[in-house]
Amino acid sequence: MGVMERVKAPAAKQRTPKAAPLDLPLDTILQGDCIAMMRSLPAASVAMIFADPPYNLQLGGDLHRPDGSQVDAVDDDWDKFDSLAAYDRFTHAWLKEAKRILKPNGSIWVIGSYHNIFRVGTALQDNGYWILNDIVWRKANPMPNFKGTRFTNAHETLIWASMGEKSRYTFNYRAMKTLNDELQMRSDWLIPICGGQERLKKGGTKVHPTQKPEALLYRILLACSNPGDVILDPFFGTGTTGAVAKRLGRRFIGIEREDGYIEAAKERIEMALPLDESTVRTMMAPKAATRVAFGTLVECGMIAPGTTLTDTKRRWKAMVRVDGSLECEGQPAGSIHKVGAGVQGAPSCNGWTFWHVDTGKELRVIDTVRQDWLLANEA
Ligand SMILES: C[S@@+](CC[C@H](N)C(=O)[O-])C[C@H]1O[C@@H](n2cnc3c(N)ncnc32)[C@H](O)[C@@H]1O
Repeated sequence: MGVMERVKAPAAKQRTPKAAPLDLPLDTILQGDCIAMMRSLPAASVAMIFADPPYNLQLGGDLHRPDGSQVDAVDDDWDKFDSLAAYDRFTHAWLKEAKRILKPNGSIWVIGSYHNIFRVGTALQDNGYWILNDIVWRKANPMPNFKGTRFTNAHETLIWASMGEKSRYTFNYRAMKTLNDELQMRSDWLIPICGGQERLKKGGTKVHPTQKPEALLYRILLACSNPGDVILDPFFGTGTTGAVAKRLGRRFIGIEREDGYIEAAKERIEMALPLDESTVRTMMAPKAATRVAFGTLVECGMIAPGTTLTDTKRRWKAMVRVDGSLECEGQPAGSIHKVGAGVQGAPSCNGWTFWHVDTGKELRVIDTVRQDWLLANEA
């Protein structure tokens, strides 16, 4: 343990035009302490961090089910700290390094439970991050409170933060809304805990006590990163982040100390199949969508200079000039929007839906020509 070794994981195929810095150990698991390993990475180099740090669980002895069997709780050394103060020092130190290597418009996700998440929240704010949301991951199938002494602990909390109050960050709002059947995605997520085929086991025993569900990472990566982005996970465990990143066409860097987890992560990522490039494209907000000017359609000959445009009732006619402006009797020449507004005596007009090309057989609204251009040219 503590050996700073670079373990090359199977590469996720680069399927986007975005170039990642060459000096980053992409699609690699770095073995060692996360603070030391993060120090080896260049400043402002990763787009997003997902961190599932030790929770410093204070369980106070073994947990048993009503039938007397012992609950498989987290009692590993990596989760133990001498005191809350020691945990706080550790949290501050890794969050500070994380901030150095995040890009100015990057964001960080940290998951935790009631044992640690409030301390993590304080440390995030003390390090200058700006909290954007806390997400409640409501477990569809939580472990009951066997003793009946407290409420069933049925959720974990994720904090999502940007680099500062004024920092920009990636949020694929439209993709999240589409994922949620056209309803704005809320901050409470109902997702089952990791189980079934997805749960890694060796000889019938769980490989890792806190393997996170891929569905959780799927949503986070879709929401806050884009294909080709570099995602860092400083507490990689079984590599849930790496497996989902590979599937979704993102690049990853994992950091983990324990040999056994690294081996499991490597095998798992090897098996993960990257989705096709066209599959990982998501809905975009209109303002994020490629903007195409009317002049572009003229330039490339999709609407030739000299073409006559008209409205649905053929009340007005305008001629397209070489620079994409329109000439219309009784109006000063101008853009499709300006001239459209002018002929109607309206304060504004969406020229894309107002003007049509008369093909002789039908009127074709120019917005459909724009859609054709986007289909043919959008990456
Ligand atoms: C909560 S688990 C993460 C589980 C992971 N998200 C998954 O889905 O498998 C935390 C992991 O961090 C590792 N870890 C703890 N302290 C670390 C440190 N200082 N540096 C690197 N790894 C560490 C542990 O070995 C453990 O695998």
